[in-house]
Amino acid sequence: MLGDLDPEGVIRWRGDVLRFDATGQAQVLCDQVVEVHAGGSFGPLRAPKAGERVEHDCRNCLIAPGFIDVHAHYPQIDVIGSPAAGLLEWLEQHTFPCEQRFEDPAVAQDAARRFLGEMLRHGVTSAAVYCTAHPHSVDALMLEAERRAMAVIAGKSLQDRNSPPGLLDDTENSLRDTETLIGRWHNRGRLRYAITPRFAPTCSDRQLHGAAEIARAYPGVVVQSHVAENLREIAWVRSLYPKDRSYLAVYDRFGLVRPHSIWGHCIHIDAEDRALLEAQGAVAAVCPTSNAFLGSGRFDFAQAGFAWALASDVGGGSSFSPFRTMLAAYETARLGGVYLRPGTLWWHHTGAAAQWLGWEHCASGIAASGWADFVVLDPCTTPLLERRWQLAESLDEQLFALIVLGDDRHVRHTVVAGRVQTPTPP
Ligand code: GUN
Ligand code: ZN
Repeated sequence: MLGDLDPEGVIRWRGDVLRFDATGQAQVLCDQVVEVHAGGSFGPLRAPKAGERVEHDCRNCLIAPGFIDVHAHYPQIDVIGSPAAGLLEWLEQHTFPCEQRFEDPAVAQDAARRFLGEMLRHGVTSAAVYCTAHPHSVDALMLEAERRAMAVIAGKSLQDRNSPPGLLDDTENSLRDTETLIGRWHNRGRLRYAITPRFAPTCSDRQLHGAAEIARAYPGVVVQSHVAENLREIAWVRSLYPKDRSYLAVYDRFGLVRPHSIWGHCIHIDAEDRALLEAQGAVAAVCPTSNAFLGSGRFDFAQAGFAWALASDVGGGSSFSPFRTMLAAYETARLGGVYLRPGTLWWHHTGAAAQWLGWEHCASGIAASGWADFVVLDPCTTPLLERRWQLAESLDEQLFALIVLGDDRHVRHTVVAGRVQTPTPP
């Protein structure tokens, strides 16, 4: 906080620093001073000087990059933990009724504030977020993100068919609103816009075509959607688009599968789909707690030759915690015969996400001149993790201990653009 600044405008944090190299190899640098400039960027890492006083003494804690959640729905904060027979039932019984209430801007403002508050409490500093079909739901989230200097990517959900009243778009208005929102929010500070066709079953040909036209007109804007999450959903897409080779091919026909586009789930895809994702430089948002909670299936880590990053998918996902997401990814991979090292899991929830999505406005790690988005993790706030941490004989063991036993109690601070966001500043 500005009140903490020393005369040179630098705040110093002291602790062990978790870093990743360009290939995602994890490394801990013990007892470092991390300097943060008043403008919100990191200075160089260095050893402490003899007798040096620092503003934040976090010895015995891990100073780590802020987590990036590449797929979440802020209007669904109150839907978490709502059981249903599967995705389509869950959408109809819980999710659409909840999102209908966002017609009231006050509901959107309250949800946006609580949603970003939860993200920060769990150590997430950036996210790609779905809003509702109401344009003002984007304004509510973006304003809250801006207030906290968070790098947030978000967009109005496009859905002009198979949706209930209040969420059903007028096609032309929805496309006009999307362009207006791009003009208002894209590249404003650390905010970016995402063109967000909800999923093929709720978008007409005209809406997907219009979304792709806008995407071509604004090359830096993100495209995000859902694909191949659930078998009944896929059968529905096949009946709606019988001529297309696959679900992903529907989006591709319109030109939506493009570099840095984000595709939620990608569970039931085939070799051609995988090759398409790879060739286009598109990114799969892997949502393991959601895939388990809704019984959607298992992402196939063994065949993921394309870029992928981890995501909560709140509220289909059951937790805001990156530790829970990483653990669920680990368990999913294990059941599919793949062993993911803890550093790999961490990397796919931090720097890899920023790198593959081209998000230079996000935290990419703790390195000089990058955005100072980071978390201070204290393994000693619960006795079980404290002991397991002390017994760990390698970095892998320490990171696994955090992944398996860690939660929001271990996030001592979340810092965004150099400013302490949790505990909430006065
Ligand atoms: N497919 C279309 N909408 C949604 C949603 O809100 N959540 C999930 N998990 N899948 C979807
Ligand atoms: Zn989703």
